[in-house]
Amino acid sequence: RIAAHLNPPNFELRREECRAKGGAPGFKVAILGAAGGIGQSLALLMKMNPLVSVLHLYDVVNSPGVTADISHMDTTAVVRGFLGQPQLEAALTGMDLVVIPAGVPRKPGMTRDDLFNINAGIVRTLCEGVAKCCPNVVVNLISNPVNSTVPIAAEVFKKAGTYNPKRLLGVTALDVTRANTFVGEVLGLDPKTVDVPVVGGHAGVTILPLLSQVKPPCSFTPEETEYLTKRIQDGGTEVVQAKAGAGSATLSMAYAAAKFADACLRGLKGDAGVVECAFVASEVTELPFFASKVRLGRAGAEEVYQLGPLNEYERIGLEKAKKELAESIQKGTNFIKK
Ligand code: NAD
Ligand code: LMR
Repeated sequence: RIAAHLNPPNFELRREECRAKGGAPGFKVAILGAAGGIGQSLALLMKMNPLVSVLHLYDVVNSPGVTADISHMDTTAVVRGFLGQPQLEAALTGMDLVVIPAGVPRKPGMTRDDLFNINAGIVRTLCEGVAKCCPNVVVNLISNPVNSTVPIAAEVFKKAGTYNPKRLLGVTALDVTRANTFVGEVLGLDPKTVDVPVVGGHAGVTILPLLSQVKPPCSFTPEETEYLTKRIQDGGTEVVQAKAGAGSATLSMAYAAAKFADACLRGLKGDAGVVECAFVASEVTELPFFASKVRLGRAGAEEVYQLGPLNEYERIGLEKAKKELAESIQKGTNFIKK
């Protein structure tokens, strides 16, 4: 067990009372896989989020150290650590948002689908815990291959009778972050002012940036369109190759995940007009899951937006994306059903 001083019950009570007096909205957030490359940076960023009152850090290794370290930050959230399967239930009970970056990352030469055999089982176990301990929570699923792990999570929740499609979101925020950055570079704009919708899924050709819908409105030459689309689709591989065996994107992912989690919390708080791209249950295409813009609210993904008008290049990309997505979704669904 984690040393008692890491989870001081009296201090915690006093801090929670203080917070209640101040009337500050506080959400309880768990990170599963919190000692990993993404998990640690994400824990840091969530500890800095004023909407978070309690932060649970769960992993099968090293969570006591990460918890001790993060808990010394002088920000509001109370941090508690949980180590190993026997502590999963305690980590999940009472949570409002569960973010899952648990699982193995790619090495050079691998596709995200090559992670399926290991990560599918990890996601199943963690989602079984969610269904049992916090069935109404909002789940942000980061573990790859997202195109399959989200269908896995959905089937686990269906089996447990807890499935709420609005509350299960595959995290594709890094694709949007990359798209805004690369488009900003080409246009000579601050990426903060750029908004690129990225739809489809989260692997290779399933990542479909809609460059015809970039804000502020602009146009690209065919060469720019080709360069940007490929760079956004291959952004993950670019980092995997640069890290040369030491893993995949962790820092930019933690940044994107923290922004996305913050958007989910603002939605839960009742803020209006919170819109982000995510891989969700969808009727936008014939596929059961698809990434597109969604409006986040108290119920989770309250509205899934249509794709809007696509140009010829994007229509061709959409057909390619759907073909690969259909297989990845089916593979995830079969993992639980069969
Ligand atoms: P990492 O190996 O650094 O960390 C993963 C962590 O998960 C480790 O600390 C490990 O102990 C933990 N873990 C393993 N099994 C677990 C279990 N059963 N319960 C709880 N924790 C468990 O890997 P990383 O770089 O942080 O990447 C994690 C995952 O995120 C990978 O699958 C990676 O492909 C994926 N990823 C997704 C995106 C995205 O855009 N959705 C971006 C980057 C990485
Ligand atoms: C990413 O897009 O960076 C992640 O999905 C990790 C990977 O394997 O590329």
